[in-house]
Amino acid sequence: MTRQLSRADRLIHQFDTVLRTLVPHAAQPERPSPAGNIADEPMTEAEREHAVGLMRINHTGEVCAQALYQGQGLTAKLPDTREQMERAAQEEIDHLAWCDTRLQELHGHTSLLNPVFYAASFGLGAVAGAVGDRVSLGFVAATEEQVGRHLDDHLHQLPTSDRRSRAVLEQMREDEAHHERWALEAGGARFPLPVKLGMRLMSKVMTKSVYKL
Ligand SMILES: [Fe+2]
Ligand SMILES: [Fe+2]
Repeated sequence: MTRQLSRADRLIHQFDTVLRTLVPHAAQPERPSPAGNIADEPMTEAEREHAVGLMRINHTGEVCAQALYQGQGLTAKLPDTREQMERAAQEEIDHLAWCDTRLQELHGHTSLLNPVFYAASFGLGAVAGAVGDRVSLGFVAATEEQVGRHLDDHLHQLPTSDRRSRAVLEQMREDEAHHERWALEAGGARFPLPVKLGMRLMSKVMTKSVYKL
């Protein structure tokens, strides 16, 4: 009986996280947005649209991160690192909420494709977790490495006048680098180049579609 209840509790908790991730404006950050009261400089319409596209990609990236951690949480053992993984997942919720708020400020919307990417990332996370902790942590490290590369590129591409988005992305960059280091130190496998190239290809599909949709 107790077991059934706790399973039901877990299911409700999972469902709650799904909703908080996918329903726009539902995620609650623990830390205030790094954009604080930084003021933007005036932007042209083209600059605003470009900033929206980039921030939408970053938001979807955080949806994927959330799904990845959730999928892994379901199947991975991770006796020593579960707490740290939950800590990292909370920081990803901050990122999610900051990007969501920034999109609203820029009069943009979150991606319509988020449920698709959520489902795919959840599946990948669950498979990695089931294969083993080394692979699971390696997957976190490889993902964070890739996210870091994206963030560098976006920091480069953002209109200079969009100072609020820049502040958000800079803090995210720092957090993701920390997640990557932690996952490797905790014993994550370093993925071979072909796997990383496959992941890069997948992320290209994501960024190209989400920039517009
Ligand atoms: Fe993140
Ligand atoms: Fe991260």
